[in-house]
Amino acid sequence: MSDAAALEVTHIAKRFGGLVALRDVSFRVAEGEVMGLIGPNGAGKSTLFEIVSGNLPPSGGRVAFFGRDCTADPPHVRRRAGLCRSFQKVRLFETMSVGENIAVAARQCLPPDKDWRAEVTSILERMRLTPQADRLPSEITLADRKKVEIGRAIAGYCRVLMLDESLSGLTHDEAEELIGEILALNRDTGITVIVVEHVLSVLAKMVKRLVVLHNATVIADGTPSEIAHDPVVIEAYLGTKASVLR
Ligand SMILES: Nc1ncnc2c1ncn2[C@@H]1O[C@H](COP(=O)(O)OP(=O)(O)OP(=O)(O)O)[C@@H](O)[C@H]1O
Ligand SMILES: [Mg+2]
Repeated sequence: MSDAAALEVTHIAKRFGGLVALRDVSFRVAEGEVMGLIGPNGAGKSTLFEIVSGNLPPSGGRVAFFGRDCTADPPHVRRRAGLCRSFQKVRLFETMSVGENIAVAARQCLPPDKDWRAEVTSILERMRLTPQADRLPSEITLADRKKVEIGRAIAGYCRVLMLDESLSGLTHDEAEELIGEILALNRDTGITVIVVEHVLSVLAKMVKRLVVLHNATVIADGTPSEIAHDPVVIEAYLGTKASVLR
């Protein structure tokens, strides 16, 4: 693997009082890679995103962004450097239009000398949301709300995009379409993407590599096919609602 890891987490730990949410989590993501992160409910996926984005401090370990230790950097510094994420629970301004929602992010994240209006136009086109630009979030589909959330996440400058269950709750066709758009974003711009989902079959279509979190720690790291046949992974998913192969 190249030396220039876009993102590297090393020995990350997180405790909430007596609850261990993450334990000795280490992996790296190469620049330009699309990587999946799967695990059952409560495995620690969102907590890891919170730590990588700087919203939560880790109890131990470090986060490096393009080789630079950013563990102590506040969230807005990481965001301006291009470390971007979407939220599992989509958070939009419900009284603002789709275009205005994206504009808020563009104005926050772009340097003052850059044209935020051009950025909004470009993101609306990129996410195929131009026809919805003047609608309120309550007037568009869940799939489009997820696209607005991704548009807000990439506004300004984005080098690594972490997507927390952007595909969940979508119909098969909607998920296929969004996967196509995420892959096109990666292909056209070189943005590194980390996608969190519960189920391997969804991710197998879009990633060449997966990390599996279970009970707060990494239990496997490999191709979708290796993961699907890994006895430790199969065992971990037995007894959970989500079958790894579903
Ligand atoms: N702020 C918090 N305070 C206390 N416990 C927390 C907090 N955030 C998460 N946890 C706990 O940490 C564990 C990991 O939660 P996390 O949300 O990271 O899991 P997840 O893998 O994202 O799950 P899901 O697939 O349901 O989204 C869970 O036991 C959760 O209850
Ligand atoms: Mg989660």
